[in-house]
Amino acid sequence: MILFKKAGDINTWLMKSRKAGKNIGFVPTMGALHQGHISLVQASKKAGSISVCSIFVNPAQFNDSKDFDNYPSTLEKDIDALEKAGCDILFLPSVTEMYPGGTYNAKTYNLGYLETVLEGKYRPGHFQGVCLVVHRLLNIIPADDLYLGQKDYQQCMVIKKLVEVEKMNTTIHICPTLRESGGLAMSSRNMRLTAEEKKQALKIYETLSFIKNNIKPGNLNQLKQNAVNNLAVAGFKVDYVEIADAGNLEIINEWDGHTKPVAVAAAFLGDVRLIDNLLLDAGD
Ligand code: PAF
Repeated sequence: MILFKKAGDINTWLMKSRKAGKNIGFVPTMGALHQGHISLVQASKKAGSISVCSIFVNPAQFNDSKDFDNYPSTLEKDIDALEKAGCDILFLPSVTEMYPGGTYNAKTYNLGYLETVLEGKYRPGHFQGVCLVVHRLLNIIPADDLYLGQKDYQQCMVIKKLVEVEKMNTTIHICPTLRESGGLAMSSRNMRLTAEEKKQALKIYETLSFIKNNIKPGNLNQLKQNAVNNLAVAGFKVDYVEIADAGNLEIINEWDGHTKPVAVAAAFLGDVRLIDNLLLDAGD
């Protein structure tokens, strides 16, 4: 695996590969890698691409500075795991490399409705920060294919919109959420949970599965309320449990039985905020 720290160097290297007819598959991350990230690298390798991974904890996307300060970092293990997965290139930039002019006068992206609901509502500015960093990364790394995890369902939609609005030639691949035994969605933030909290955290997947097993056409308010109560009783501070249109994230209160729904949840265990989702018409 080749490690680059400078934007200019990785860009020159990848532009050469591109000219030589190679396909570039890219997995952006904030490190503290788990099997979910590795599965994205594997997906890009399976497609026969040069697989590029970035590790950059992006300060611009943290609306809560404590969350940024406590974000786990396991760089040596990450490098080892990427080597083992056969990742070809690792990009490891500094903050000044990513944002040479700072972020004060950063561009604003028009994300419309997507920025007003769910994660957008509870984490103001978060998706602007995600767009800023992904846009910059895609200008440095000329990716043909971008691999993202379904766990961050709304983020996948936001990045799709970014690529569309900025007319970038990158195809987005959304890969399934990987789960621990018991169903907890793999997440870097799980590293901050105690063994006891990890057991409690299973309630999120159980709650989403409860929605999946009980959804019926008609009014969904009681089902959503029961789901929120389930999490609150298990010790969570709930931001939301919602059922939304899987295609555009519009909240569904009355379900027609045809629109494809997704159940989404965000809740705190102590000061660790966890999110998860389940497509209600699919086998996940
Ligand atoms: O999902 C993440 O880890 C981050 O939001 C991303 C896409 C790497 C941008 O910083």
